[in-house]
Amino acid sequence: MRVERVFERAADLISGSRFCVALTGAGISAESGVPTFRGSNGLWKRYRPEELATPEAFFRDPELVWEFYKWRMEMVLNARPNPAHRALAELERMGILRAVITQNVDDLHREAGSRNVVELHGNIFRVRCTSCPYREDLKESGRAGEFVEETDVPRCPECGSLLRPDVVWFGEALREETIGKAFHLAQEADLMLVVGTSGVVYPAAYLPRVVKEHGGRIIEVNVEESAITPIADVFVQGKAGEVLPVLVNRVEAAKAGENLPQRE
Ligand code: OAD
Ligand code: ZN
Repeated sequence: MRVERVFERAADLISGSRFCVALTGAGISAESGVPTFRGSNGLWKRYRPEELATPEAFFRDPELVWEFYKWRMEMVLNARPNPAHRALAELERMGILRAVITQNVDDLHREAGSRNVVELHGNIFRVRCTSCPYREDLKESGRAGEFVEETDVPRCPECGSLLRPDVVWFGEALREETIGKAFHLAQEADLMLVVGTSGVVYPAAYLPRVVKEHGGRIIEVNVEESAITPIADVFVQGKAGEVLPVLVNRVEAAKAGENLPQRE
């Protein structure tokens, strides 16, 4: 399909959608300067996930794992949402997008103004105790800055045990409530925008399949083909921060046209 036709088709699907949801991955934050996991510059090229993102790794070497997470926390603290995050927030304000389901832990969707955000893999600004119910949202408590500066391994203020990042590691189950909500949204969706994910980590990668099984369509936005591309109805190749604003502008123009007074 010619590029122009691809954009036209994608914009038409979005304008005509009754229940649209988005599934996002690390690629949507790439233009905010947050590195992705896979690909030539991906984090998992430089680090081994099993040494940094598993419960075993954490209990073996909490200093190392905390060093990695504080480094990422600091990076994300300095990152700003990009036009792709903002375009999804705008689509929600227009009443078209019902939710953003994200694999990202960087909080940039909310920073951009998205309200209904389902964080499948947790949030890097939240920490929790490894032995008591203590939890803290470092953004809410305003302690994120001092937290990343602290060199000692963080300990629970209630019981003194190790604190851990409130993210989902490999080998861990997603929170039941969260994954339930995501599957429910996927079942309801007549359209899913799949943006910047390689589509190889489960259960997140099931969600586009659930949409298809229930008769919904998929628009994928990615700089390159992914594991989702074979089931995408429209594949828009390009950077999320460039593609999404164009699509949303087109949808806005189409909606404005609909509202013009019609001639008799
Ligand atoms: P990946 O790093 O696996 O994939 C990023 C995707 O974004 C790739 O398909 C890239 O082609 C694409 N991409 C890169 N830059 C882009 C841009 N500017 N615009 C659009 N697309 C772009 O990231 P995820 O699919 O999110 O999990 O990875 C899934 C999970 O694996 C993560 O949540 C994390 C990771 O290990 C855990 O840590 C549990
Ligand atoms: Zn505790």
